[in-house]
Amino acid sequence: MSTNTLTQPKKKTFDVEKVRKDFPILSQLVRGKKPLVYLDNANTTQKPKCVINTLVRYYREYNSNVHRASHYLGSKADHAYEKGRHKVQNFLKARHFEEIIFVRNATEGINLVAQTWGRRNVDKGDEILVSAMEHHANIVPWQMLCEERGATLKVIPMSDSGELDLEAYEKLLTPQTRLVGLVHMSNALGTVNPIKEMIATAHKQGIPVLIDGAQSAYHMSIDVQELDCDFFVFSGHKLYGPTGIGILYGKRELLEVMPPWMGGGDMILTVSFDKTTYNDLPFKFEAGTPHIEGVIGLGAAIDYLNGLGMENIAKHEAELMAYGTEALAQVPDLKMIGTAKHKASVFSFMLGEIHPQDVGTILDMEGIAVRTGQHCAHPVMQHFGISATVRASLACYNTRAEIDALVQGLHKAHRFMG
Ligand code: ALA
Repeated sequence: MSTNTLTQPKKKTFDVEKVRKDFPILSQLVRGKKPLVYLDNANTTQKPKCVINTLVRYYREYNSNVHRASHYLGSKADHAYEKGRHKVQNFLKARHFEEIIFVRNATEGINLVAQTWGRRNVDKGDEILVSAMEHHANIVPWQMLCEERGATLKVIPMSDSGELDLEAYEKLLTPQTRLVGLVHMSNALGTVNPIKEMIATAHKQGIPVLIDGAQSAYHMSIDVQELDCDFFVFSGHKLYGPTGIGILYGKRELLEVMPPWMGGGDMILTVSFDKTTYNDLPFKFEAGTPHIEGVIGLGAAIDYLNGLGMENIAKHEAELMAYGTEALAQVPDLKMIGTAKHKASVFSFMLGEIHPQDVGTILDMEGIAVRTGQHCAHPVMQHFGISATVRASLACYNTRAEIDALVQGLHKAHRFMG
């Protein structure tokens, strides 16, 4: 063996059957009959044993409040909780740990920015720019802000393949634009937007950009410094972690001058009836007892993902996407909604005239879990002139055999109802 081989770091390999064993929920039979085929990952992902065990261990061994209990259990909980923040910092490759704010979910992160940064910086006649493929979470908070401040919400149009019109985007950036809100990866179409270029374009005019990373963070590596985004949000439950925990990343200089949002314990330095002074970052934005086990569980999920390697996950899912795209094209009358060149892990489609909910019911009888409906993206449905789609979405534990089961289920639905 050469010296060179000895010094090479060991390359991580990805064995999907081994990965599946980490997720106890996947080995069940649906209604005691059909093996579960879980393809509703854009909705929420399943949790590996290490996350479940971490949550149980926290409650069995060191349940305590954080930042307020100077006893043995309190310091253990403090340590694990703040370690969770550092894990998120490393996961996003953020420069400072103070840039990581714990919230309930991506939605709350966007609302926090709209209600603090937005109220300070958006006035009558100003504009907020979002894209035509946003989830409601990156539309409604801005509409609420615009209504309150007398500002206007503008929309970057998209093509029928589900790609943003970048020429129109440049033209929509005006001296009135205060912020651009962009989805990294569309939950309804799977499109992965060229956010790095779009952020650079906005920055040329000094306009900050918020990225909704709810769908991207569990499929690809994120580097907020390389992207140079001003804000980035995601939810823990899509990242194989617990529900009720989300992340708002913001550049420190922006967060520092933003006023707090919710008031209460932990976000203050001093309180009297005359005057209250606020805590430093990140605590200024974290009022009240936080979701302690959520943070600790999310930390365990991040360790798990680092163990698998985000690049391995992305590669595995890209292979499944290619396989699935070809296989689904053979299903009669199937029309894919969202055919962008850069797509990840989402198949959103119609099956002839069959109502998506009926397709979902037939698939469910086969043990296959998909989401049907508007996917919290009404404007996307309006663009395509449809009321709903069937959506099958992938995660690290999905297999070709599961895609085959989906295709067979769709053939069955077509035979019964087509
Ligand atoms: N936004 C999540 C989804 O697309 C809930 O299913």
